Amino acid sequence: MSEHYLLNYVDCTEYELPLDFRNIFGRERETFLEIGFGSGEFLLQKAIENPSSDYLGVELSMISAEKLLRSLSRNYVQNVRALLVDASFALRNILPRDSLSGVYMNFPCPWPKKRHSDRRLNTASSLEKIAKVLKKGGFFQLYSDSEEFVHEMLEEVGHTEFFDDPVLEANPTVGAGTRYEKKWLVMSKDIYRLKCIRIESEINDEEDVVRVSNLWIENIDERSLQKVEGESFSKNEIFVKFMGLYRNMDCKTFLIETLTVDRGFSQRFYINLSRRGNRWLIKLDSQARPFRTKAVKFALRVLSEIIVKEDAGGNRNH
Ligand SMILES: C[S@@+](CC[C@H](N)C(=O)[O-])C[C@H]1O[C@@H](n2cnc3c(N)ncnc32)[C@H](O)[C@@H]1O
Repeated sequence: MSEHYLLNYVDCTEYELPLDFRNIFGRERETFLEIGFGSGEFLLQKAIENPSSDYLGVELSMISAEKLLRSLSRNYVQNVRALLVDASFALRNILPRDSLSGVYMNFPCPWPKKRHSDRRLNTASSLEKIAKVLKKGGFFQLYSDSEEFVHEMLEEVGHTEFFDDPVLEANPTVGAGTRYEKKWLVMSKDIYRLKCIRIESEINDEEDVVRVSNLWIENIDERSLQKVEGESFSKNEIFVKFMGLYRNMDCKTFLIETLTVDRGFSQRFYINLSRRGNRWLIKLDSQARPFRTKAVKFALRVLSEIIVKEDAGGNRNH
């Protein structure tokens, strides 16, 4: 992407989390979020219609994000910021609690039940995540072409204590105006809109993001290090796998390719192990910047425990 388009892009790994909206918009206004903005028509329209409000969009697809960024730039729109990250992770860790006036979801993929169950957005736990970032009185609005999906969602809304006043309409007079909506209308499908309001209730969901510090060890056990590739570890909802080991010619620097998963959110990055004077430093490699999650912290700790060499007295010196 050319630098010009990046003005409206936010690389969340560069910010302290949760985000402070004043740092990304340079002002404090009512803020709204669209989950899965696709080509971005909805966000563009909303932002042009309401220049005194701010809009965030979360997408997984780089191609979609580029389309949105191009159209924002073409239309000189400055009150939208695009985040390229999994929406579940963003709701849990990136967006502050009680910060948004509204969350929009337009034509999400109603994933088949079993295979993609972790990606389904119509579950009670997804509604809880959405509720967590909404201010009391804020709304959640969903458009969908699937009657079954909106009814499941309506049922879930009824089961949670986070939302009230659900209103489900078939073929509402005002549509979302998105690419997917146009696609379904051309096929003469019915369109459904569900809207509900966030009410007062306690949400105790924990964040995955933590402070991650560099580790030092006195000596490494080379044989244990050689065996690290392919090793995997899990704890609670955390998973770590060391995918590969690469060494510098002088054997004073190693890169360990690492996969981590926190509650379904996966990241791939390198851990850098390097000799510094008499000791070894274990830290995240600066080339790929993962979010500092519990699994990332666990990966550094578990690696240090595997490779640390015992001293003559059988002690493992960290
Ligand atoms: C069916 S498309 C709808 C796009 C757009 N809202 C529209 O109505 O035209 C669903 C969009 O959600 C995005 N998406 C799916 N799962 C996501 C997730 N976990 N986090 C963020 N975006 C997601 C996809 O990349 C895709 O662009």
